[in-house]
Amino acid sequence: MIYPVTVFGDPVLRKVAEPITTDFNDLKGFVENMFDTMYTSDGVGLAAPQVGQSVRIFVLDTTSAEEEDEPGGIKRAFINPEIIEKFGDSWVMNEGCLSVPEIREDVLRPESVRMKYQDDDFVEHEETFSGFTARVIQHEYDHLEGIMFVDYLNPLKKRILKSKLVAISKGKVIPKYRIKIPGK
Ligand code: NI
Repeated sequence: MIYPVTVFGDPVLRKVAEPITTDFNDLKGFVENMFDTMYTSDGVGLAAPQVGQSVRIFVLDTTSAEEEDEPGGIKRAFINPEIIEKFGDSWVMNEGCLSVPEIREDVLRPESVRMKYQDDDFVEHEETFSGFTARVIQHEYDHLEGIMFVDYLNPLKKRILKSKLVAISKGKVIPKYRIKIPGK
């Protein structure tokens, strides 16, 4: 099942998401639907608030988007993820977000992250990621904290983008994938 994607201006994207408990209804089905929604929208990552659910889960697939000089992308669901540590030299990448259609901006993030998370059987994992995968993880993790990549822009950039963001929140920017217009 493909979910509509929530966009900038939807309050669910500003909430701190709740932990997923073992009684969550059909977790595996939800994960599968999140992957389907992500692939249909040509995204490399998707967090639950982006499909209207304020719970701590994100999915990503960096297997085809990983930079050529950094092989080894992953396809994975992260349940109740925690960032234990961010480290390494910060680098800039031009980021986009399915919830902020038609805007891309440079964002500075650390090179590596050490993560603790559960898989969809609630088995606990601890692992370090670097490069593009670490970037996507940090972007998606932010969604669980109610943070969006445009929050990192300087005040001038924010001012320039203001009218575009207002247009998105009013449903006036229509991407190729299905969105849920805030308040509708
Ligand atoms: Ni995003």
